[in-house]
Amino acid sequence: MIKEGELYFPTKEFQKKAWVKNAKIYKEAEKDPVKFWENLAAQLFWFEKWEKPFVHQPPYFQWFVNGKINITSNIFEKNLQGWENIKNKAALIWEPEPIEQSVKILTYEELFKKVCCLANGLKKLGVKKGDRVGIYLPMISEAIISILACARIGVVHAVVFSAFSSAALKARLVTNEAKILITADGYYRRGQIVNLKQNADEGIKETKIEKVIVVKRAENEINWNSEKDVWYEDLIRNESEQCEAKIMDSEDLLFLLATSGSTGSPKQVMHTCGGYTIQTYWTGKWIFDFHKNDIFWCTSDPGWVTGHTYTIYSPLLNGITTLMFEGAPDWPEPDRWAQIIEKHKITIFYTAPTAIRMFEKYGADVIKKYKFATLRLLGSVGEPIDESAWLWYFREVGKERCPIVDTWWQTETGGILITSLPGIGPFKPAFTGLPFPGVKIDILENNLVILPPFSPGMFRGIYKNPQKYLETYWSQTKKNVYFTSDVAHKNEQGLIRIIGRVDDVIKVAGHRLTTGELEAAINLHSEIIESAAIGIPDEIKGEAPVVFVVYRGEKTHDEIKKEVIAQIKKEIGPIALPKEIYIIKDLPKTRSGKIMRRILKKLLVKEELGDLSTLRNPEIVEEIRKIIKL
Ligand code: WTA
Repeated sequence: MIKEGELYFPTKEFQKKAWVKNAKIYKEAEKDPVKFWENLAAQLFWFEKWEKPFVHQPPYFQWFVNGKINITSNIFEKNLQGWENIKNKAALIWEPEPIEQSVKILTYEELFKKVCCLANGLKKLGVKKGDRVGIYLPMISEAIISILACARIGVVHAVVFSAFSSAALKARLVTNEAKILITADGYYRRGQIVNLKQNADEGIKETKIEKVIVVKRAENEINWNSEKDVWYEDLIRNESEQCEAKIMDSEDLLFLLATSGSTGSPKQVMHTCGGYTIQTYWTGKWIFDFHKNDIFWCTSDPGWVTGHTYTIYSPLLNGITTLMFEGAPDWPEPDRWAQIIEKHKITIFYTAPTAIRMFEKYGADVIKKYKFATLRLLGSVGEPIDESAWLWYFREVGKERCPIVDTWWQTETGGILITSLPGIGPFKPAFTGLPFPGVKIDILENNLVILPPFSPGMFRGIYKNPQKYLETYWSQTKKNVYFTSDVAHKNEQGLIRIIGRVDDVIKVAGHRLTTGELEAAINLHSEIIESAAIGIPDEIKGEAPVVFVVYRGEKTHDEIKKEVIAQIKKEIGPIALPKEIYIIKDLPKTRSGKIMRRILKKLLVKEELGDLSTLRNPEIVEEIRKIIKL
């Protein structure tokens, strides 16, 4: 039995079948990372080979320059596993939230036909290569079909998480100037039907959206605008099941995805076709050790980067079966997730520490009856996993048989860049492991940084905001070192442990938010003077936001709190709701007017406050302390 603080290695049995089992690969890759990636790239299908593998003009870089590729050709007709071998096998297993509804299975060939139909439908609506299409869909198969249909014809997909509010949707559509939005009537969440179309209607106001494609999912009543709206089924009804792949330049845009940045408004990260395809294929193959009979369940929603890369693209590029579950893992019973693993014979399970801590909290009794005999590998992503959650996952889910890959990456990196490889190890609770072969990572004064040649699938910039790209990621150094905003350290074996962010990003249940974003949303309330948001440790969610709101009007605190909640729901969505709201008369500030969030945090976590002499209003600190205690 594994003990705290111990190292763990894969079993002989696991290792025997693993794609990568010899640690020599690290040394080989290190000698010439560009050559290493070139060799990996050459194994996928390109319409034309690249002329130069890597070009660096700080802070910009390119991979496989002038190569021609399409990611969907590599998933379908040119799949490395051979189209004849995979076309009749399940590409997707879809499990609906309502227990009484039926599971849907799509083979590779069926999925391909659906992708082509929609791609043809999109073309008919007038979208062309390089145009952006917004996708605001829940966890249903059409989310995958829509993403792949865009990629098939060179249209840039811009997915917006379906639980984001209409205001958050609008902000994203305004920046990316999409002309088409794909959405659904509604979806199921914890037994309720959410009217998604209503949010979409609101969100497209004052944007460039000309047409809204609506998938019928929950059959709820919706408003219909006959000029703009078109049913998904009507759009594809008479379309051909064949559609040529658009030949894309390696550096053409594949997708945009908004993520929270170090300040205020979200920024749209740009990912390109060539490098992303290569990195996505190989990181999945080696880290999840994809073999032809694997059934992979990555619990991430396609609204997040993990959903893009590991629910959709990576398993499909590898020709294996991916599972998508529409609902919440503990609905309607706390063991729904365990039932799904058993029912669909999941072999690899990839989730976030938040989910693991939630399962743990329900207690081992809930899952005592499950053997999880088909599982052979577990993964974790999105936030640091503490030793106790790691050990619980290892013992109760992996039955001490399955390696755990704790995978570090970011929306910006496009794929996993740090983790122990499952056939090599070692696995150490709370440590992510080593950089992926061919990736140079360093720790400079506790800051985790990525060195040239970076990785093929890393982002190429912030859409329409080169200044932000430069300032956020490159200005700390000489424009040739990528600054991750994570603090980390290495142990004597070189294993990396991620401590957390240095900026104001907080990870709430693995979701990336900034305190600035929350404050901006709250400050839109006309009677609120200002606010300060802080992330504090939370037993289940990892971190949770707490907000301090300056209000000096006549309403009761309860009334104002309700309005703050409504305000956050309207501007961002329920994921950003604070754990606690404190209504106060003033915020602690320096003489120059800077809000001292550090002091608020110390008050909350009950740490020594230190020197308060730089404050303009030190007396407010005691007042706030009293309110917190109430
Ligand atoms: C954090 C999610 C510790 C980190 C794929 C990073 C992690 C941010 C891990 C990116 C991990 C991600 N251990 N922390 N295994 N994985 N993080 O863009 O702070 O939503 O910078 O991408 O999540 O979050 P994002």
